[in-house]
Amino acid sequence: MRLAFKAVGHSFLGRTVLDGVSFTLAPAETVAIVGPSGCGKSTLLGIAAGLIEPLRGRVRREYARHAAVFQEPRLLPWRTARDNIAYGLELRGAGRRERHEVAARLARAVSLAAEDLDKYPVELSGGMRQRVAFARALAIDPEVVYFDEPFTALDVGLRRTLQDLVVDSARGRGFASLFVTHDLLEAVRIAHRVLVLAHRGGRIAGERAPPGLPGGRDERLVWETTERWRTEDALFAHVFDAEERDERRAA
Ligand SMILES: Nc1ncnc2c1ncn2[C@@H]1O[C@H](COP(=O)(O)OP(=O)(O)O)[C@@H](O)[C@H]1O
Ligand SMILES: [Mg+2]
Repeated sequence: MRLAFKAVGHSFLGRTVLDGVSFTLAPAETVAIVGPSGCGKSTLLGIAAGLIEPLRGRVRREYARHAAVFQEPRLLPWRTARDNIAYGLELRGAGRRERHEVAARLARAVSLAAEDLDKYPVELSGGMRQRVAFARALAIDPEVVYFDEPFTALDVGLRRTLQDLVVDSARGRGFASLFVTHDLLEAVRIAHRVLVLAHRGGRIAGERAPPGLPGGRDERLVWETTERWRTEDALFAHVFDAEERDERRAA
């Protein structure tokens, strides 16, 4: 077990955002957290990553290193892609040669061209920046990676490529991941298990496991599972109907 939440709860300004949240994350497992916007996904991830101290419950971590990838790549604009990727290594005191070697290897792993390593974030596309952010996460050789809607801002085709990249590297490197998304299709494609956060009240409304394993599901299975859950499974109907109602209200 890498991570365990036991009855974790949190509030902001007296308003309950998470309540009685319990789950575990096993080594090499990918758990997706889905739920509509505002339901507490980022708060849950922040608590998991130790960025937010929960008001209630307990969090147990059994690993030495974790990394996080957010929706915005959060790169340092004054550093090249190479120096962004190697940032964590630099903090740990790695020499220039090691940093260059690791950055080159990881750039290949995330399909960044060698010449892109010398570019600054502003010279890279959104997808390239997110590849750099992912490579930077991998550079410290994490046992757990936390993802907070990392591909939401990207177009559908690119999103799919990067999802495959996450699945392949999780399998190849054996890290566990907690992956927050409001895209059910994404959750079904990449995760072993999907936890659904309720629209209100901050509780886990339920859990589902897509058939097969991440990386072994073909597109048809992914689509059919997503459609079936959306249309026939009350767990998702409730959550996503609520989201659509809110979107209509906002429009
Ligand atoms: N630092 C904060 N202070 C006050 N309220 C917050 C803070 N962070 C999040 N919230 C509120 O908590 C709720 C859950 O937010 P969040 O975890 O970001 O949801 P999600 O990631 O699912 O969209 C929202 O209503 C949000 O406005
Ligand atoms: Mg969020």
